[in-house]
Amino acid sequence: MSSQTKLLTMKGISKSFGKAVVALDDVQFELEAGEIHALLGENGAGKSTLIKVLTGVEERDKGEVELEGKKIYPKSTNEAQQVGISTVYQEVNLCPNLSVAENIYIGRAPRTKMGAIDWNAMAKNAQELLEKFDLKLDVNKSLDNYSVAVQQMVAIARASDIQAKVLILDEPTSSLSKVEVDKLFDIMKRLRSEGMGIIFVTHFLDQVYEVTDRITVLRNGHYVGTYKTSDLPRVELVSKMIGKDYAVLNQTLQKGQSDKEKTKTGDVFVSMKNVTHQGSINNMDLSIAKGEVLGLSGLLGSGRSETARVLFGIDQVTGGELEINGEKVHLSHPLDAIRKDLAFCPENRKTEGIIGDLSIRDNIALALQAKKGLFKKISKKEAQKIADEYIKKLEIKTPDADQLIKNLSGGNQQKVILARWLATEPELLMLDEPTRGIDIGTKAEIQKIVIDLAAEGMAVLFISSELDEELRCCRRIVVLKDMEKAGEVTGEDVNEAAVMHIMAGGND
Ligand SMILES: Nc1ncnc2c1ncn2[C@@H]1O[C@H](COP(=O)(O)OP(=O)(O)OP(=O)(O)O)[C@@H](O)[C@H]1O
Ligand SMILES: [Mg+2]
Repeated sequence: MSSQTKLLTMKGISKSFGKAVVALDDVQFELEAGEIHALLGENGAGKSTLIKVLTGVEERDKGEVELEGKKIYPKSTNEAQQVGISTVYQEVNLCPNLSVAENIYIGRAPRTKMGAIDWNAMAKNAQELLEKFDLKLDVNKSLDNYSVAVQQMVAIARASDIQAKVLILDEPTSSLSKVEVDKLFDIMKRLRSEGMGIIFVTHFLDQVYEVTDRITVLRNGHYVGTYKTSDLPRVELVSKMIGKDYAVLNQTLQKGQSDKEKTKTGDVFVSMKNVTHQGSINNMDLSIAKGEVLGLSGLLGSGRSETARVLFGIDQVTGGELEINGEKVHLSHPLDAIRKDLAFCPENRKTEGIIGDLSIRDNIALALQAKKGLFKKISKKEAQKIADEYIKKLEIKTPDADQLIKNLSGGNQQKVILARWLATEPELLMLDEPTRGIDIGTKAEIQKIVIDLAAEGMAVLFISSELDEELRCCRRIVVLKDMEKAGEVTGEDVNEAAVMHIMAGGND
């Protein structure tokens, strides 16, 4: 590759947080124009920190960044954008309350001759731009009317319009449906062909092999290497990421599979009989037994999370009945559910999960405290013990339990939320996308924990848009479609083809 095409180089980048956390230690990274470059590594490896250094969100302690041969030192995302570096985070960094058009033209709105904002021109330009990306939106509507996927596409359209040279996507696909991911990839490929350099952070290895040209791996804040994607077999990639032989991980995965067979289904713990919640689920019949991991499958919007919300008392039953341990119950609030030994780990950690300014310890103790009631305060010592236990068990990467949760990497925050609900020692554990954003090694560990809990008698409702994961953990899968139960598979029939068949609308 000639040096002419070298778009971006980062050299000797180091960044520490306090004395205890070395997030990056002498890391290098290189991006060509017209390539899609995956930045990979386990949770806490330093991927997001490297990107924050590049975009001026965090100041580097050491190192150099060059864009097209010129040293740059952006001190804010705005400055980064001015030199041509645009970022789309998973939690979209646009302004949800402003209109779609305003979001695209923020800080650079077209003006009339009199100097006022030319709203008509703005709407028209926005419309034309989005059409190039096959997006048909009402540009005058506020952005939060649209899905995360669409919001991300708008952010990308904006980046393309301001002629960004470097586009950074930090886990953009973790909450997108297959169709949306395909669309995003089409757009990425188009921008690549126009000469943009794209940095893509993801935990989905299939996607890495589908769309990237090169891969850089980080491990524990260190640079491991850069490889051509087509030259790096998947097992080697995983070994480089986890720093041990892939065979070890594979053993864990296979153990999960055989352990699953050991779980024994006991009495029914919870059942929904013909349950409806207006507007989200219809006539749902579903039961989960003690010792069972029941998978809930279906396309985005089919009613998976909605089912869990009703079971947890967030949304009320408007028709039908709910039974726990054979008794009719009415859950009017999540606290009712928690006190009946239910737990629900929701999918969206940013809005339904973490309390950023609390420590890891306090975040973990939260649900247990709610369960005990405010008059039975959990002592700091007790909370510490529980937190330490889960930090170890889930391999949460942190110097100690005192750290504020907002300082953890994305995947490690997810683990804290999981710990919070495990700590309540529930009889029914509902997990909505529990391994989203979690690296491949820990993913296998979490699946194993779920199976072990069931083997000890816990009932588990397991929701995941990754079918492999459900197939690995569940001996029975209920498939939803259009807010209703479309069918279920058990035993021998728990396989991809059978589930897909029902999802697609085949008769069971
Ligand atoms: N503001 C901060 N204060 C203290 N520690 C931090 C801060 N930001 C990041 N860290 C730590 O730096 C390390 C690297 O985190 P980073 O977010 O870069 O990981 P990542 O590779 O993006 O992981 P993930 O896949 O989980 O998103 C982690 O140990 C994290 O806890
Ligand atoms: Mg990250």
